[in-house]
Amino acid sequence: MIYRTHLCGTLSEADCGQEIKIAGWVDVRRDLGGVIFIELRDHSGKVQLVSDPLTTSPEIHQSFESLKPEFCLSVTGLVQKRPTGTQNQDLRTGAVEIVAQSVTILNSSAPLPLPLKQFGEADESFRLANRCLDLRRPEQQKVFRLRHEIAQTVREFLTQDGHLEIETPYLTRSTPEGARDYLVPSRVQAGHFFALPQSPQLFKQMLMASGFPRYFQIVRCFRDEDLRADRQPEFTQIDIEQSFCGAEEVMSTTETLLQRVFALVGRELKTPFPRLSYQQAISRYGCDKPDTRFGLELCDFTELMDSCRFEAFSKVVSEGGVVKGICVPSFAEKSRKEFDELRDLVCTPEYGAKGLAWISYKEQENLGVSPIAKFFTKEELALIKEIASAETGSALFFVADKPNRVNHVLSKLRLHLGNQLGLIDPHKDSLLWVTDWPLVEKNEESGELTFLHHPFTAIKDSDRALLDSKPEQATALAYDVVYNGVELGGGSIRNHRLADQLKALELIGVSEAEAREKFGFLLDALSFGAPPHGGIALGLDRLVMLLAGASSLREVIAFPKVQSSTCPLTQAPASVHEDQLAELSIRLRPASN
Ligand code: AMO
Ligand code: AMP
Repeated sequence: MIYRTHLCGTLSEADCGQEIKIAGWVDVRRDLGGVIFIELRDHSGKVQLVSDPLTTSPEIHQSFESLKPEFCLSVTGLVQKRPTGTQNQDLRTGAVEIVAQSVTILNSSAPLPLPLKQFGEADESFRLANRCLDLRRPEQQKVFRLRHEIAQTVREFLTQDGHLEIETPYLTRSTPEGARDYLVPSRVQAGHFFALPQSPQLFKQMLMASGFPRYFQIVRCFRDEDLRADRQPEFTQIDIEQSFCGAEEVMSTTETLLQRVFALVGRELKTPFPRLSYQQAISRYGCDKPDTRFGLELCDFTELMDSCRFEAFSKVVSEGGVVKGICVPSFAEKSRKEFDELRDLVCTPEYGAKGLAWISYKEQENLGVSPIAKFFTKEELALIKEIASAETGSALFFVADKPNRVNHVLSKLRLHLGNQLGLIDPHKDSLLWVTDWPLVEKNEESGELTFLHHPFTAIKDSDRALLDSKPEQATALAYDVVYNGVELGGGSIRNHRLADQLKALELIGVSEAEAREKFGFLLDALSFGAPPHGGIALGLDRLVMLLAGASSLREVIAFPKVQSSTCPLTQAPASVHEDQLAELSIRLRPASN
């Protein structure tokens, strides 16, 4: 049987007079006490079918009467122009209708748990549990078409650019990207486990050592970490690696790639993207993925506060902390209540500030009004105003604490104010590189070193000497690409010589023996003339989410997981039969929580 000759959404006046066949789902049925109208929907759109009892055969009219929402049909009919005045401007096919000549019901539909049109406002858990109906909605079809087009554009561009698409294993060993692994027990090797890859990092490096010039893969990665709106336990990377390259080549490939992808949604990106060093990003925005669509940059008062009489500040500085602030135009006129609300907000556990001091620069008051003004000399107040470049009408907010805490609080407060005060232009695209990352950072509590990227990242040649003395000051050849405050991707130039790689691992206390046990295969590859290489991975889900204007990754993944890392559709993970566990030589212990 031929189900269709045309697609519903493509019919127009040009098809009038033609006998056509279409197939799809009953979207709406309108019974006008005689004439029955059906809107039939497929992936391309909708078109109106009509059955008039005076002109249509009784069987056809009867079957029209029996149709319910989401019945699946194939219909033969004649395309005709709609009578004047009955055209539907809201429908692409609104100038025509199909006079049905035969109707085949391919499948009936049970009554829907909710009309499809109301799915958009329904609870997410309901939508995900009824995902196949949810995805039938035109808005959803559009998202997944965009996702497909993005993936195709990526494939096409990277292929033209000399990258080979090569698959890497899912059943593998742990890859150190910093999250927990998902483990898969081996039946054949009892007591042994595969780890699902957190990324193909080690394999793509192996491929460069194997002599492939450039690689890419649109690849699933698995990380057992707490979910957020922009984090899923399984997600997809556009993974790229190049040999005989430096950071500039990788960054330039990424820029052109993103330029092509953004063009799909009519957004023009200018290259090269602006760059900020990690230090600049932290100092000016308090975070390593700043949203630069608006100002409200942070200012630093630490030096000045060291010797001031306000003890809450001077004590923090004497203990190695900092005092930074954010100057907000047109805030001085706000009510006391609004100032207090901001203080309460930053003192919530999510922000974690100990307080929020402020100075308000109202018109008549040159040096500012503030509950803490009494602690400062005129000169100090003048200097504060100068550092903040505070203009009349603005209010300046201070946070004093350990550097990480202050930056965390103020970067969140900055985003909050940017949104609240409508400072973010939604039509603006801010793409930028954050470069010159420190190789490692010292944990403020434990004093232990951890890599900011992963342990395969190379350092700047000129910083080699720092590795023994001050490793936290060594700069890595790492780069992140940030879009409107979201980390889209990250990558680096790698250690391609064995000695450099071993040295890097030694920094975080991994001995050669331990390294050989965990990823000896990579160390071997490095020892046989591995070429200089580097790469990047972009989060495909995040890219689609941002370009589709969605607020969560769950909107752009066909079958996503929810907060509890479970799949609401299949109810995975599920318990398994005792026999399966026995086969895997596994005995369960009582759950630890
Ligand atoms: P990284 O860990 O920075 O780098 O990951 C690269 C990009 O993948 C996306 N991403 C995620 N998306 C959704 N859910 C998650 N849980 C998640 N985790 C990461 C982000 C991120 O920028 N192997 C290195 C890359 C390299 O060095 O080449 C890596 O995986 O958009
Ligand atoms: P106090 O001296 O504790 O009454 O605080 C005076 C003002 O300074 C209040 O507005 C507090 O919110 C603010 N403040 C206290 N500690 C800090 C801090 N660590 N950072 C920023 N502001 C603070």
